[in-house]
Amino acid sequence: MPLIDWNESFSVNIEEIDEQHKRWIAMINDLHDSLLKDHTNDINHTAVKTMESMKEYVRDHFIYEEDYMRVINYPDFVGHQNIHCKFYEQISKYYDDLKANKILLNTDIMKTLINWLKNHIIDEDSKYSIFAQEGDSSSHISQFEAIRIRGG
Ligand SMILES: [Fe+2]
Repeated sequence: MPLIDWNESFSVNIEEIDEQHKRWIAMINDLHDSLLKDHTNDINHTAVKTMESMKEYVRDHFIYEEDYMRVINYPDFVGHQNIHCKFYEQISKYYDDLKANKILLNTDIMKTLINWLKNHIIDEDSKYSIFAQEGDSSSHISQFEAIRIRGG
Protein backbone atom coordinates (compact mmCIF):
# COMPACT_ATOMS: atom_id res chain seq x y z
CA MET A 1 0.00 0.00 0.00
CA PRO A 2 1.44 3.39 -0.96
CA LEU A 3 2.44 5.67 1.88
CA ILE A 4 1.04 8.71 0.15
CA ASP A 5 -1.45 8.98 -2.72
CA TRP A 6 -1.86 11.88 -5.09
CA ASN A 7 -5.32 13.42 -4.87
CA GLU A 8 -7.11 16.36 -6.48
CA SER A 9 -6.32 18.65 -3.54
CA PHE A 10 -2.70 18.55 -4.78
CA SER A 11 -3.58 19.79 -8.25
CA VAL A 12 -2.04 23.10 -9.30
CA ASN A 13 -4.11 23.01 -12.51
CA ILE A 14 -0.99 22.76 -14.66
CA GLU A 15 -0.89 19.30 -16.16
CA GLU A 16 2.89 18.94 -16.50
CA ILE A 17 3.54 20.10 -12.93
CA ASP A 18 0.82 17.78 -11.58
CA GLU A 19 2.51 14.91 -13.44
CA GLN A 20 5.87 15.84 -11.93
CA HIS A 21 4.36 15.91 -8.43
CA LYS A 22 2.82 12.47 -9.07
CA ARG A 23 6.21 11.11 -10.14
CA TRP A 24 7.82 12.55 -7.02
CA ILE A 25 5.12 10.94 -4.84
CA ALA A 26 5.84 7.60 -6.56
CA MET A 27 9.52 8.01 -5.67
CA ILE A 28 8.66 8.65 -2.01
CA ASN A 29 6.57 5.48 -2.07
CA ASP A 30 9.49 3.57 -3.62
CA LEU A 31 11.76 4.83 -0.89
CA HIS A 32 9.26 3.73 1.73
CA ASP A 33 9.08 0.29 0.10
CA SER A 34 12.83 -0.04 0.47
CA LEU A 35 12.43 0.69 4.17
CA LEU A 36 9.91 -2.14 4.52
CA LYS A 37 12.17 -4.71 2.87
CA ASP A 38 13.89 -7.40 4.82
CA HIS A 39 17.05 -6.06 6.46
CA THR A 40 19.13 -8.74 4.78
CA ASN A 41 18.40 -7.03 1.45
CA ASP A 42 20.78 -4.17 2.11
CA ILE A 43 18.15 -1.50 2.57
CA ASN A 44 20.67 1.27 2.59
CA HIS A 45 22.03 0.42 -0.83
CA THR A 46 18.53 0.71 -2.32
CA ALA A 47 17.77 3.82 -0.27
CA VAL A 48 20.92 5.57 -1.50
CA LYS A 49 20.02 4.86 -5.13
CA THR A 50 16.41 5.98 -4.72
CA MET A 51 17.44 9.10 -2.77
CA GLU A 52 19.93 9.97 -5.51
CA SER A 53 17.24 9.67 -8.19
CA MET A 54 14.87 11.72 -6.03
CA LYS A 55 17.49 14.42 -5.50
CA GLU A 56 18.06 14.72 -9.26
CA TYR A 57 14.34 14.66 -9.99
CA VAL A 58 13.58 17.31 -7.36
CA ARG A 59 16.28 19.59 -8.81
CA ASP A 60 14.82 19.32 -12.33
CA HIS A 61 11.30 19.79 -11.00
CA PHE A 62 12.28 22.93 -9.08
CA ILE A 63 13.97 24.36 -12.19
CA TYR A 64 10.80 23.66 -14.18
CA GLU A 65 8.58 25.38 -11.60
CA GLU A 66 10.97 28.32 -11.31
CA ASP A 67 10.99 28.80 -15.11
CA TYR A 68 7.21 28.76 -15.01
CA MET A 69 7.04 31.32 -12.19
CA ARG A 70 9.39 33.62 -14.13
CA VAL A 71 7.21 33.45 -17.23
CA ILE A 72 4.05 34.36 -15.33
CA ASN A 73 5.94 37.12 -13.43
CA TYR A 74 5.00 35.56 -10.13
CA PRO A 75 5.62 38.28 -7.49
CA ASP A 76 6.96 35.95 -4.77
CA PHE A 77 9.35 34.14 -7.08
CA VAL A 78 12.41 34.80 -4.87
CA GLY A 79 10.67 33.60 -1.69
CA HIS A 80 9.52 30.43 -3.43
CA GLN A 81 12.95 29.83 -4.93
CA ASN A 82 14.53 30.16 -1.46
CA ILE A 83 12.18 27.51 -0.10
CA HIS A 84 13.24 25.22 -2.98
CA CYS A 85 16.92 25.89 -2.25
CA LYS A 86 16.59 25.04 1.43
CA PHE A 87 14.78 21.80 0.72
CA TYR A 88 17.28 20.84 -1.98
CA GLU A 89 20.06 21.32 0.59
CA GLN A 90 18.18 19.08 3.00
CA ILE A 91 17.60 16.30 0.48
CA SER A 92 21.25 16.54 -0.62
CA LYS A 93 22.32 16.12 3.00
CA TYR A 94 20.11 13.05 3.41
CA TYR A 95 21.70 11.61 0.28
CA ASP A 96 25.28 12.39 1.40
CA ASP A 97 24.68 11.01 4.90
CA LEU A 98 23.00 7.85 3.61
CA LYS A 99 25.80 7.28 1.13
CA ALA A 100 28.44 7.76 3.82
CA ASN A 101 26.51 5.42 6.13
CA LYS A 102 26.21 8.21 8.69
CA ILE A 103 22.47 7.61 8.86
CA LEU A 104 20.05 4.86 7.95
CA LEU A 105 16.76 5.45 6.20
CA ASN A 106 14.11 5.81 8.90
CA THR A 107 10.52 6.84 9.45
CA ASP A 108 11.50 10.38 10.53
CA ILE A 109 13.12 10.98 7.14
CA MET A 110 10.04 9.57 5.41
CA LYS A 111 7.74 11.83 7.47
CA THR A 112 9.87 14.88 6.66
CA LEU A 113 9.78 14.12 2.92
CA ILE A 114 6.04 13.52 2.86
CA ASN A 115 5.10 16.49 5.03
CA TRP A 116 7.36 18.83 3.12
CA LEU A 117 5.89 17.83 -0.24
CA LYS A 118 2.26 17.91 0.91
CA ASN A 119 2.62 21.25 2.68
CA HIS A 120 4.66 22.78 -0.11
CA ILE A 121 2.12 21.89 -2.79
CA ILE A 122 -0.87 22.97 -0.73
CA ASP A 123 0.60 26.10 0.88
CA GLU A 124 3.11 27.38 -1.69
CA ASP A 125 2.59 25.89 -5.15
CA SER A 126 -1.11 26.70 -4.87
CA LYS A 127 -0.18 30.40 -4.65
CA TYR A 128 1.47 30.59 -8.08
CA SER A 129 -1.35 28.42 -9.42
CA ILE A 130 -3.96 30.93 -8.18
CA PHE A 131 -1.87 33.82 -9.48
CA ALA A 132 -1.65 32.19 -12.93
CA GLN A 133 -5.38 31.58 -13.00
CA GLU A 134 -6.16 35.15 -12.02
CA GLY A 135 -4.12 36.37 -14.98
CA ASP A 136 -4.41 35.07 -18.49
CA SER A 137 -3.02 31.66 -17.66
CA SER A 138 -3.63 30.14 -21.08
CA SER A 139 -1.35 32.66 -22.78
CA HIS A 140 1.24 32.21 -20.01
CA ILE A 141 1.24 28.47 -20.45
CA SER A 142 1.57 28.62 -24.22
CA GLN A 143 4.34 31.18 -23.84
CA PHE A 144 6.03 28.90 -21.32
CA GLU A 145 5.72 25.87 -23.57
CA ALA A 146 7.09 27.82 -26.54
CA ILE A 147 10.12 28.88 -24.51
CA ARG A 148 10.79 25.34 -23.33
CA ILE A 149 10.43 23.91 -26.86
CA ARG A 150 12.96 26.49 -28.08
CA GLY A 151 15.17 25.45 -25.20
CA GLY A 152 15.29 29.03 -23.93
FE1 LIG B 1 7.41 24.65 -5.51
